[in-house]
Amino acid sequence: MHPELSFEQAPPIDVPFRFFLTAPLFGIAAGVLLALAGGDMLASRWTPAALAGTHLLVVGFMLQAMCGALLQFVPVAAGGNIWRPRLVATIVHPLLIVATILLATAFLSQRPMLFIGAAHGFALALGLLGIVVGVALWHTPARGPTIVALRIALVALVVTLALGIALATGIARNAEWPLLALTDLHAAWGLGGWALVLLAGVSYFVVPMFQLTPAYPAWLARGLPLALLGLLVAWSVQFAIAENSGTQGFFVGGLGVSSLFAATTLHLQHRRRRKVGDTTLLFFRTAMLALLVIFVSVLAFLALPDLRLDPRAAVWLGMLALVGVFVSAINGMLYKIVPFLNWLHLQKLCGLQALPPTMHQMIPERSMRRQFQLHLAALILLLAAVWLPVLARPAGLLFAVSCAWLGWNLLGAVNVYLRFRNRIRAGVADHRS
Ligand code: HEM
Repeated sequence: MHPELSFEQAPPIDVPFRFFLTAPLFGIAAGVLLALAGGDMLASRWTPAALAGTHLLVVGFMLQAMCGALLQFVPVAAGGNIWRPRLVATIVHPLLIVATILLATAFLSQRPMLFIGAAHGFALALGLLGIVVGVALWHTPARGPTIVALRIALVALVVTLALGIALATGIARNAEWPLLALTDLHAAWGLGGWALVLLAGVSYFVVPMFQLTPAYPAWLARGLPLALLGLLVAWSVQFAIAENSGTQGFFVGGLGVSSLFAATTLHLQHRRRRKVGDTTLLFFRTAMLALLVIFVSVLAFLALPDLRLDPRAAVWLGMLALVGVFVSAINGMLYKIVPFLNWLHLQKLCGLQALPPTMHQMIPERSMRRQFQLHLAALILLLAAVWLPVLARPAGLLFAVSCAWLGWNLLGAVNVYLRFRNRIRAGVADHRS
């Protein structure tokens, strides 16, 4: 399972970068929303602000970053041929931004028109992205667990989207559907199918490559996406038969499988060949520990019914999943992927003329480390705020500042790229004149 990369197929650098640079802005928006709404927002998973904040993170932060990663990763690491990536990005990127803003404001204002507008926006953006990436993934000659994981993640994204659109339409029309059970199913496909399987598929590749660890065991790499898909399909069938009754087993089973992935990743990182730690490693370890804490928390909730029935229990799990697992992992990955892409494109540009800056010169390690510390502090405060509402405003502010710092660091890397590229171009022009 050794990675083979084909950089000839890499899309122009602005294709993934526009998504990567947008993601932190929605993180800032989610933090500011919490700072403004205060502790009431976290009283239950159903408050309008909690639903808005959830989607600022899942489709604003996570989906933006993941779309950028897909458009880069599928051609380079999965050998898939993406049809006109710049045109696709030019259409999908603004549509996603608008649809996310519409959905967040729809939750806050409960205006039916906004739900319908958001549903149309997402259908167009993700419909196009799904077709283009789907065709590339189904035609690639490459084989292996990463391809299987990417295919399953894409299917899960389509199911999540379909359920999200159904929910938005149901709310807008005041339909008498089983919205609660449908929401659980939508959340499970979105977080357990799309986000986690994509994270796993990308990890099989980038954890050994960037963190110099041994490869993931083949049985786990192959089995995890299939097991999660199997559980989600079984959950959906059960839903079709009996709505939400009897679905707890699928939830706990899915978390058990996810914990195996987390424990394996931590074990592989422990066995890495170069023992020097970097910031990405810290982000990744935080993400994997958060995944394990979710499993332990669910077991505790099962043992303590009083706690399980507290509406804040679900908010605790959501906070761990969104900020603890996914924002941490994506933040850490961006710190490797953005400098790496910079370096790669600059190297292609300058050929033998000059040496591009090293990856370490793109974003100062000290700045990444400080931002990690801030992210960790924000995560701890956010988790505490679930039980102590007085902490909600400072927690929201801290999270917003952490996301702003991430954005600032990424912008710094883009600046290094632009300065060096312009110098090379000027050098070539001098040479010619
Ligand atoms: C692709 C990524 C997505 C993920 C991971 C995701 C995740 C979630 C989660 C976790 C919840 C539950 C929130 C809670 O319990 O507080 C939820 C609810 C909801 N989602 Fe999404 N979502 C996604 C996309 C969408 C899209 C594209 C739409 C609309 C077009 C949408 C519409 C909704 C609606 C309407 C609800 C709440 C239903 C209610 O109030 O009963 N979601 N989503």
